[in-house]
Amino acid sequence: MYTGMLHMHRLVVILFLLIYLVKATLLVLNRKDSLQKFSATLKVPEMIISIAFLVTGIILAFNSGNLGPWFWVKMVAVATSIPLAIIAFKRMNKPMALMAVMFIVYAYGISETKSPSFKADDLSASYSAADPAQMGQSIYEGECLACHGAEGKGGASGAKDLTSSALTPDERLDIILNGKNAMMAYRDRLSPEQIDAVAGYVETLAAP
Ligand code: HEC
Repeated sequence: MYTGMLHMHRLVVILFLLIYLVKATLLVLNRKDSLQKFSATLKVPEMIISIAFLVTGIILAFNSGNLGPWFWVKMVAVATSIPLAIIAFKRMNKPMALMAVMFIVYAYGISETKSPSFKADDLSASYSAADPAQMGQSIYEGECLACHGAEGKGGASGAKDLTSSALTPDERLDIILNGKNAMMAYRDRLSPEQIDAVAGYVETLAAP
């Protein structure tokens, strides 16, 4: 359910972004007649898209397991963009329209990278231990538990039950490295040793 909602949210956001982009482009090119025609034609679809944007976003937020600081930065960017766009297109103000587009593109980039700087946060310094098993468990508890639950059965953000995983250890490792759907990639967030340690810990949950 969550993952389907995530795909729908992304689709709706892309449509929303495209409408913004076309409108801002027409405004910047002084094509005011075309802008008015475009806005009038898309009035109802735009309303539906905006509502779907909001509703899918709220459903996702309430069912998410781990909303880091990036989420709040994104919220501020979206909350800045929308009133800015409404005023910009009403007053035909080009700089404001461009700013609105920039904020929404920025919010989109944060979502895709789960980071306000579009760069994965390096978490590796938070975990160090002589004993890899201990380190694996600490990383799991610090980074994975919010979605996967203490025993691996949790399902927040559409997380898969790790205790009934049908994947091979290599496939599981691949998802930890590269992420999938709501799960972020850990390739650049943890060191290779830390990835091995947490993957090892996941194997103890998958095959207890
Ligand atoms: C934001 C929530 C979230 C966090 C945090 C998270 N995961 Fe996930 N995880 C998911 C989701 C969602 C899936 C399912 C992806 C899919 O197949 O659609 C998943 C799938 C997996 C799978 C594959 C399971 C299977 O059988 O398909 C593994 C293994 C896994 N996660 C390990 C981890 C580890 C290890 C961490 C911490 C380093 C972690 N996850 C952190 C959400 C999360």
